[in-house]
Amino acid sequence: MTDYDELLRDAAAAATASATLEALGQEQARFLGKNAAVTLAKRDLGSLAPDARAVAGRAINEAREAIEALFAERRRAIEAEARAAQLENERLDLTETIETVRRGHLHLVTQARDRLEDVFVGMGFTVAEGPEVETAWYNFEALNIADWHPARGSFDTIFVDLGAPEEVMLRSHTSPVQIRTMEQQEPPIYIVAPGRTFRTDSADATHLPAFNQIEGLVVDRGITMGDLAGTIDEFVRAFFGAEVQTRLRPSYFPFTEPSAEFDISRADGSWLELGGCGMVHPNVLRNCGIDPEEWQGFAFGFGIDRLAVMRYELDDIRELVNNDARFLRQF
Ligand code: PHE
Repeated sequence: MTDYDELLRDAAAAATASATLEALGQEQARFLGKNAAVTLAKRDLGSLAPDARAVAGRAINEAREAIEALFAERRRAIEAEARAAQLENERLDLTETIETVRRGHLHLVTQARDRLEDVFVGMGFTVAEGPEVETAWYNFEALNIADWHPARGSFDTIFVDLGAPEEVMLRSHTSPVQIRTMEQQEPPIYIVAPGRTFRTDSADATHLPAFNQIEGLVVDRGITMGDLAGTIDEFVRAFFGAEVQTRLRPSYFPFTEPSAEFDISRADGSWLELGGCGMVHPNVLRNCGIDPEEWQGFAFGFGIDRLAVMRYELDDIRELVNNDARFLRQF
C-alpha cells in the first residue's frame, strides 16, 4: 500500500511551491491525473480481497479528497493574490488631486474691513450700516452741503435717474450714515460704518470708481480734537503696528470744523492720503436734532481699499479688483 501521509505532504509542498495557476494545474495533474498514485492505486483495487478493498478504497478516497482540497485552497489563494495585485495596480492615486484643491478665503478687502471693525469694536464702537443709494439730503444737504455749495462738485457723484421727486445718487462717501445714525440714536454715539462708495473717478494706481470707506462718528459731552487724534493714533497702531507714521493736515469739509486730512507714511517715504476727519459741524448736529451746545463730536472717513494697499504693500490699488487668483491667493 502507498504511504498516503507522505503523498499528502508532497502534494502540499508542490501546491505551495506553485506560484501561478498554470504551475498549480501541472502539479494537480501529477497528483490527481491519469498517472497519479491515487488513480493507479484505485485501478489496482480489483486485485485486493473484498475486505481489504473497502479499507484501501476508503483510504484512497480520503487521500484523493485531501489532495483535491489542498489544490483548491491553493488555487483560491493564488486567485486572491492576483486580484489584490490587480487592485493595487488599478488604484487611483487621489492624493495629488487632493493637494491641489485649495480652500478659499475672504478677499483681502473683506479681511481689512473685518480687522478694522474688530479694532474699533475693541475701542467701544458699534458697527452701523446705511444704503448704497442715497438722496441728496443724506449724501449732501444734512451734511451741510447745500446745492449751491462748490464742494458738491468735488465729490464726482454718480447720479441715478429714477424719475423720482428727489435727487438720487450712489453715495459718494459713507458720511450719510452719520446722519442716519444721529436721526435714529440719541447721544452718546460711538459708531463705525464700513461700506461701498462710488465716484466718477477713473481707475488708476490709487483710485477705484467703486471703493470702500469706513466712517467713524462720536457724539458725546466734552469731545475735543484731542479725542479725535488719540482715536486715530490708537487705530493706526492697532491696524498697522507701531512703526507707521501718520500726519493730520488742515483741510476743509463742509460737515466738520475744524477739518483735517489724514495721511500715512509709505515705505518709500511718500505719504498716502487715507481720508478726512474733523469735529462735527454744529449745523450737522442741528440738522439731526442734536443740540451743539450740549453735545460735541468728531467724525472720520477712511478708504478701506487704501488701508489694504498700505497694509499689504501693494503697488497698485487695481490689483484688488482684477480678480487674479494668483494674486488673491497670497493674502
Ligand atoms: N466724507 C469725506 C470724504 O469722503 C471724509 C470725511 C468723513 C471727512 C468724516 C470728515 C469727516 O472725503
